[in-house]
Amino acid sequence: MGHSFLRKSLAVAAAVGILTGAASAQTIKIGVVNTFSGPQASFGEMIDRAFRLYIKLNSDKLPPGVKIEIINRDDGGANPDKAKQLAQELIVRDKIDFLSGITFTPNGMAIAPIATQAKMPTVLVNAGTSVVVTRSPYYVRTSFTIFQHCVPLGTWAAKSLKKTFILVSDYAPGHDCEEAYSSSYKPAGGEIVGVIRAPVATADFAPFLQRVKDAKPDALMVFLPAGRTATAMMKSFVDLGLKSSGIKLIGTGDIAPEEELPNMGDEAIGTISMFHYSAAGDRPANKAFVAAWRKEYGEKATPNFAAASSWDGMAMMFDAIIKQNGKLNPDKSIEIMSHFKTDNSPRGTIYIDPETRDIVQNEYLRETRRVNGELQNVEIETAAVAIKDPWQAMQKAKK
Ligand code: PHB
Repeated sequence: MGHSFLRKSLAVAAAVGILTGAASAQTIKIGVVNTFSGPQASFGEMIDRAFRLYIKLNSDKLPPGVKIEIINRDDGGANPDKAKQLAQELIVRDKIDFLSGITFTPNGMAIAPIATQAKMPTVLVNAGTSVVVTRSPYYVRTSFTIFQHCVPLGTWAAKSLKKTFILVSDYAPGHDCEEAYSSSYKPAGGEIVGVIRAPVATADFAPFLQRVKDAKPDALMVFLPAGRTATAMMKSFVDLGLKSSGIKLIGTGDIAPEEELPNMGDEAIGTISMFHYSAAGDRPANKAFVAAWRKEYGEKATPNFAAASSWDGMAMMFDAIIKQNGKLNPDKSIEIMSHFKTDNSPRGTIYIDPETRDIVQNEYLRETRRVNGELQNVEIETAAVAIKDPWQAMQKAKK
């Protein structure tokens, strides 16, 4: 009996040996905590489409036998407890190699301690409050910071719009926007005539916009999470007569995301926004990106800023995988990703500042126009070249 047991064990060992030998194939798992439901569900679709398109078009660059698997989880929006639980499960049960997604700042804040504890290389492809990336040494951000948009926006606005009313979502990125805009607008002579912090879940903007109208500002500066919320605000802005009374609508590009422009219609025309990406940008790398997107997802589909950040985020993960020949070490991955640089982003040249693990990129002043029958955010000026997060610089100056 002992003998046959030994024979069997040897047979099993041999079989396993052969299997592992033959199967040099290796799957690298990327866990994605993202928003697939609720008013910000467009993030789920944009980010997932960008990841899958990048993988499809570039998998031949991976080391032989290496495959990428995406594991998506829906946080439903700004739900820090849920997001944390999902990240935990992805790490412990699914044994992911990278974590990504993270549309909402509060979710990124909640996940940071477990990313640190698990040494989980995490690529933030949306959450934009400056402080988030500082919360874990395993965080790298390819999206943007709200300060990157709102500081140049304040500088630009002060030139011709002397009185601004501020309307922001009442959570961290909204607070960043208010602070950043004021920090450049006020010293340049602008006056803030009112501030409203509206609950993040606001769907009816009429009561807030009535107050704005009564204050008669030159500009209304808005930050809110992109998606259907932006269209609700835009419609109210027009319906209540703010647009026709001559108030200029300005803000971060979140107020005019590409996928919502058809829902907004001509009411969006004339909106001024400061952002790191527009699908209408005429850089060759962007034209190629938009063309590849439409080939894959249809002529009516247009990538937005989250798609661009995710495309670059996947390129960055590919870089870490390729440079380690598929044998991943978390600290090495972070080291490599912290030095990521490309001239071929749809946004132009971008790089990660190794000191902060945060994105450095251009900011474009855009105006929403109808071009060849299509609503677009036309880039009318490069307002900042290779801008680092201004908040980080302000923190240093305070010390
Ligand atoms: C964020 O929570 O940081 C956030 C969410 C949606 C946006 C921008 C920023 O459109």
